[in-house]
Amino acid sequence: MSIVNRQLILQLRPKGLLAPGDLQLREAPLLELQEGQALARVKYLSIDPTMRVWMAMDSYLPAVAIGEVMRAFGFAEIVESRHPDYKKGDRITGLTGLQDYVVLDASAGKSFQKVPKIPFVSDTIFLGLLGINGLTAYFGMEIAAPKKGETLVVSAAAGATGSIVGQIAKVRGCRVVGIAGTDEKCNWLTKDLGFDAAINYKHADWKEKLAAAVPNGIDIDFENVGGEIMNTVLELMNLHGRVILCGLISGYTKEDPSLASFGTVLVKRLRIEGFIILDYASRFIEAATQLGQWKMFGKIMDRETIVEGLGKAPDAINMLFTGANTGKLIVKV
Ligand SMILES: NC(=O)c1ccc[n+]([C@@H]2O[C@H](COP(=O)([O-])OP(=O)(O)OC[C@H]3O[C@@H](n4cnc5c(N)ncnc54)[C@H](OP(=O)(O)O)[C@@H]3O)[C@@H](O)[C@H]2O)c1
Repeated sequence: MSIVNRQLILQLRPKGLLAPGDLQLREAPLLELQEGQALARVKYLSIDPTMRVWMAMDSYLPAVAIGEVMRAFGFAEIVESRHPDYKKGDRITGLTGLQDYVVLDASAGKSFQKVPKIPFVSDTIFLGLLGINGLTAYFGMEIAAPKKGETLVVSAAAGATGSIVGQIAKVRGCRVVGIAGTDEKCNWLTKDLGFDAAINYKHADWKEKLAAAVPNGIDIDFENVGGEIMNTVLELMNLHGRVILCGLISGYTKEDPSLASFGTVLVKRLRIEGFIILDYASRFIEAATQLGQWKMFGKIMDRETIVEGLGKAPDAINMLFTGANTGKLIVKV
């Protein structure tokens, strides 16, 4: 049997948004499986802002090398196995890469996690609410340790992570204000997800509107964006407020991203804590169980934007930076 594996290879380190040719499609024949290997067919790919960072530089993981398959999280199903821990039909999530098939070997346990088949639950939930984004929201909110009645502001609020953060903050009894890039997203946040207010940062008067939406000041900034948005939020924070530094997406496509205003951090005596979700791997099951319960009881809603076709993955990565997604962005391979 000869199977062709389509792979997206990192050809050039992007400048700004991805340009045609930064990722190139290659067709590679799959070799016969060796004893101790399993073959998984990738069904869905998680499209994450951090992929743009992985394309450009070393960060919490090394940069993807030129000529390598682009790193990505995905959901896959085992189609053939000579591996003692996997059998045909097993479903896994992990670093599949942007490709049709991934070969699992002896080290697979470190990179992949088996996921159950749950009736009436979509496969894609394991990339969004019960995947990286829900888990990031959950552990970020654990760091935030919100108290009832506190005000939390979250940026990129209608995205995969931000939309869950705001809903967890509502469960915890906070006043929640989201910042997002369209009126449609803002309406979704307030009408469907129960945010107390949502501010479209593309309107000229958004800073005044944000100030009006936080009459008691801001106790917690769940920061996904950085730059001007972060500085505006910091100005409105209460003394001794907490900043949960989850992401700085406004800087990922820039050579020289603007930093936060540390003068405000000093004067307001703020506490800033950054975190990377991979550090919490040993507690993923605990978090996913809680998130699943919240979903089952209608306390949390999730939404997905699905793009069809592996070849569309480069365009999908750019969608994160133009704001074309609402909720979790996924490529159906
Ligand atoms: N620390 C961790 O372990 C961890 C894990 C996962 C994600 N993250 C971070 O969390 C953040 C959100 O990630 P996500 O996967 O949930 O993506 P997402 O929020 O689903 O998508 C990104 C959103 O960011 C907004 N955005 C993009 N560029 C912007 C800019 N210049 N100014 C303002 N808003 C901008 C866009 O929405 P608008 O229409 O609102 O502009 C876009 O839809 C990112 O910073 C990411 O790096 C961190």
